[in-house]
Amino acid sequence: MTILGIESSCDECAAAVVLDGRRVISSVIATQIERHAEFNGVVPEIASRLHTEWVYDVVARSLMEASMTMADIDGVAVTARPGLAGSLLVGVSFAKALAWSTGKPFVGVNHVLAHLYAPLLTEDVEYPFIGLIVSGGHTLICRADGFDDITVLGTTIDDAVGEAFDKVAKHYGLGYPGGSAIDRLARSGNPAACRFPVPNLYKRDGRFDVSYSGIKTAAIRQLDQFWNPAFERSNENLAAAFEKAAIDMLVTRLLRAIDATGITTVVAGGGVAANSYLRASLGARRDLRTLFPPLAFCGDNAAMIAGLGYHMLARGDRDGLELNASPRVSGFKRPGKSVATP
Ligand code: KG4
Ligand code: ZN
Repeated sequence: MTILGIESSCDECAAAVVLDGRRVISSVIATQIERHAEFNGVVPEIASRLHTEWVYDVVARSLMEASMTMADIDGVAVTARPGLAGSLLVGVSFAKALAWSTGKPFVGVNHVLAHLYAPLLTEDVEYPFIGLIVSGGHTLICRADGFDDITVLGTTIDDAVGEAFDKVAKHYGLGYPGGSAIDRLARSGNPAACRFPVPNLYKRDGRFDVSYSGIKTAAIRQLDQFWNPAFERSNENLAAAFEKAAIDMLVTRLLRAIDATGITTVVAGGGVAANSYLRASLGARRDLRTLFPPLAFCGDNAAMIAGLGYHMLARGDRDGLELNASPRVSGFKRPGKSVATP
């Protein structure tokens, strides 16, 4: 089956053609980064307007780069949840109109589960595995028993990890988007320059949970308190120390989940899965098999939507014209089985 995927949940307008959930034939990602950079964050109104202007061309280009027309497409998959309401609506409305007018089946896809599918576009993995979904909006450690069958083991009790990177970078003017800016600066900094407080959530029955509001506040408001005076007060040193604290917290929780479940395959997805320190930390563990998406498929893209959509369409999932965009989804809180609506 050849699936056309469409993604517009945040600030990337993307379309892709993927064969059988595995072969990415084309993937077009039009990023709005430059249009939001002056605000140091995504402005929802600007995002949805740009999606409206761009979506037709992006989809047309993905078909052109695949040397295909809609006649070659067997089904359409679109991000329907979660994300910015106005942005999601553009992709969902476009996909519905396209599918209806060409008589193709279509299905709405959960963006967060699609991030976890991204490494599976290029690698063979057996279930179950431990999933690590780390993005600007979500931080999840889960057990995955199928492409839409996950059990949340740990999550953030406040900010998402990517959000913490973005807020610290914004405060110090380190660059936009914050995560990749900090990653870049950290490479020439010394993580020992600063020792941030790392919360332990054992007592709150959250031994797989993370919390970023403390580290974020320490980095933004209490830097003097945590700075090691032997080190120069540079952006590079701050970035390296913050990155180490933020990522080490994730890794310790992940290792606890691996110990508790005995599952040693880890699949990571989401924008923060591009982080070089996270990749190096997990890559160094010989006792684990860790899969990261290729860098192009860490952040938002439509190949992961078409990939996950393929499995849904292949088992017979269909949405009708009543499909709506849902900014939020239930099921990503601990504890419990999650997702009724992949
Ligand atoms: O998956 P994504 O593109 O969008 C969401 O679904 O949220 O993730 C975006 C997040 C942003 O917070 C961004 O700062 C972060 O991923 N990010 C990174 C890196 N590249 C992007 N965080 C840490 N290190 C990176 N190299
Ligand atoms: Zn995303």
